[in-house]
Amino acid sequence: MIEKANNSINDPRSTPNSKLQTPNSTIQTPEGRQTWAQVDSDALGNNYRALDSLLSRSRSSTIRNPRIIPVIKAHAYGHGMVPVAHALADAGATVFAVGVVEEGTILRQAGISQEILVLGTTWHGQEADALRHQLTLAVDAPESVHRLESAATDGAANIPVHIKVDTGMGRLGVCWDKMEPLLHSLRLANRVSLAGTFSHLSSADELDPAFTQEQIRRFECALDAIRESNLDPGEIHFANSSGLLFHERLRQWSARTGIALYGYSPDSQRSPVELSPVLSLKTRIAFIRILEVGEPLGYNRKFTASRKTRIAVLPLGYADGFSRRLSGCGRVIVQDRWAAVVGAVSMDMISIDITNLPDVKIGDEAIILGSSAHCSISAADWAELLQTIPYEVLCGIAPRVPRIYIKKSDTLSSRSR
Ligand SMILES: Cc1ncc(COP(=O)(O)O)c(C=O)c1O
Repeated sequence: MIEKANNSINDPRSTPNSKLQTPNSTIQTPEGRQTWAQVDSDALGNNYRALDSLLSRSRSSTIRNPRIIPVIKAHAYGHGMVPVAHALADAGATVFAVGVVEEGTILRQAGISQEILVLGTTWHGQEADALRHQLTLAVDAPESVHRLESAATDGAANIPVHIKVDTGMGRLGVCWDKMEPLLHSLRLANRVSLAGTFSHLSSADELDPAFTQEQIRRFECALDAIRESNLDPGEIHFANSSGLLFHERLRQWSARTGIALYGYSPDSQRSPVELSPVLSLKTRIAFIRILEVGEPLGYNRKFTASRKTRIAVLPLGYADGFSRRLSGCGRVIVQDRWAAVVGAVSMDMISIDITNLPDVKIGDEAIILGSSAHCSISAADWAELLQTIPYEVLCGIAPRVPRIYIKKSDTLSSRSR
């Protein structure tokens, strides 16, 4: 049941664990402060397979079939990059996408052997590192091709690159109708070879498909330009999670999915496949006290008891990713019931009102993100309260919160980071 608790997703060392019984299982939680994020490797695998099933497969073995390219940048959206890569590889993933060269290097050092595509900018001087670790880079200008050519000093050939095309995001990438200088440099390149072509969608979660359709039209023009210049575009990938979920036309190509793998549809109202949140955030009640009528609580006395109030203190705060903006409006689950967050959220702790939960005691589990039998709170719920998106909520769970990887198959593994 247990994979492993890390001290931090930034720290590959492990901490000693303590075994705690739950009704269904034995889960190891870290010793010390009892706050942890539980990452469900089975849910991750199921989400991966559900997304993979959406891709249009060709029966012909001569046509390159599209695949899911899991986006595991930013510590796999807060879930822990290396364990997530291992779990996805177990589920069948053959490639990963990261944001920066450093993330690819960490994956290689952890023994990940699958293809790794770096989606973002490669800074001048990082090419040698990228080549040493066999990372596939994105190119968007002749200079990026030249830099790679000259970094390949040991006579390496066939260095794969993917062209990044800007079709409307307006950030990185070669402009879809100004491809020729880049294509020219690729035609002349001796060591660098074109292995893929991609673009990024800006608005595929919107109900109005017009801008996405225009992005697809521009991308197809860019693909034509590549073919007309006698180059093979290689693996084509365009969709992010919303592109794959909401735009059938994009299922003919590989899809770089992030948020949907972690269990969230970019539009919480719709999804063609069932997705389950992968991460739960949990803690244990550290202290209980009674506030008499009129007694204040926490910084700036944001809460004052209007009745005799039973308060539980939980050992997590905004330094763990529980936003201070949830002060007075958040709620958590204790003993399958709701308990309101009262007073200001502090750096290391929050307080909840358990007046109506007389059986609650020190050491009881509180679910901050996740589900019990009758209650459920997700990163999408927080996002609504905080007027943000689940991406930011998940990425905001701090490195100091230990991640525990759980597999129902009862396997114990010692993978970290
Ligand atoms: C270039 C690129 N492709 C794909 C993704 C994955 O997006 P999503 O998490 O919406 O699936 C991202 C995420 O930011 C990205 O930057």
